[in-house]
Amino acid sequence: MGYNVAIDGPAGAGKSTIAKLVAKEKGYIYVDTGAMYRGLAIHFIKKGIKAEDIKGIVEACKDAEVSIVYENDVQQIYLNGENVTAMLRTEEVGNMASKTSAIPAVREKLLELQRTLAREKDVIMDGRDIGTNILPNADVKIYLTASVETRATRRYKELLEKGENCVYEEIAQDIKERDERDMNREIAPLKQAEDAILVDSSEMTIDEVVKTICNYCK
Ligand code: C5P
Repeated sequence: MGYNVAIDGPAGAGKSTIAKLVAKEKGYIYVDTGAMYRGLAIHFIKKGIKAEDIKGIVEACKDAEVSIVYENDVQQIYLNGENVTAMLRTEEVGNMASKTSAIPAVREKLLELQRTLAREKDVIMDGRDIGTNILPNADVKIYLTASVETRATRRYKELLEKGENCVYEEIAQDIKERDERDMNREIAPLKQAEDAILVDSSEMTIDEVVKTICNYCK
């Protein structure tokens, strides 16, 4: 059994940034489960299936193979043998992932992959239901959150830096909608596990958050 750190929280709370840094500091493997949902989302988009077409999504799950390979400790996502890592982080893919992750067949598809990684390696795994559902016996559970305003502002700046056109109000709206979907779905909704440590990063620097979490870890 590996040493397992679960880090859950809403979209844009900085989970991946923080988890990568903690992983480096502590020598864990960083597992980004959102990327797995995004990988499957690419499969659905490629097939031209709408998120609302539940039957179509369930059917399409059958011919999707998502796998993970680590290249220099950086997670790569393969979809049916193709490395799709560079295609994961668009709004289209994120929205498709957010909608389709509410479908049981989609979650079922990724569950074993996530648990196997945690069994075999020392991991810090980020997602929405890691502490509550995937790794209920994780050694450390963190619930990382921040206000909608903070998360939207961070995302806005990130996009501007990339030279992308964006409107703050739209980003804030998108984050609210994603929170709403993730927290209110029937299966594995986003919520703080009873034994998770709450970290609100609204008024904290990245360095402070990393130090706080590292202090709880072996
Ligand atoms: O974290 P990220 O934004 O990459 O995740 C994309 C979407 O995948 C989220 O909006 C969420 O709905 C879903 N997800 C999930 N469970 C996880 C990780 C992600 O439902 N463990």
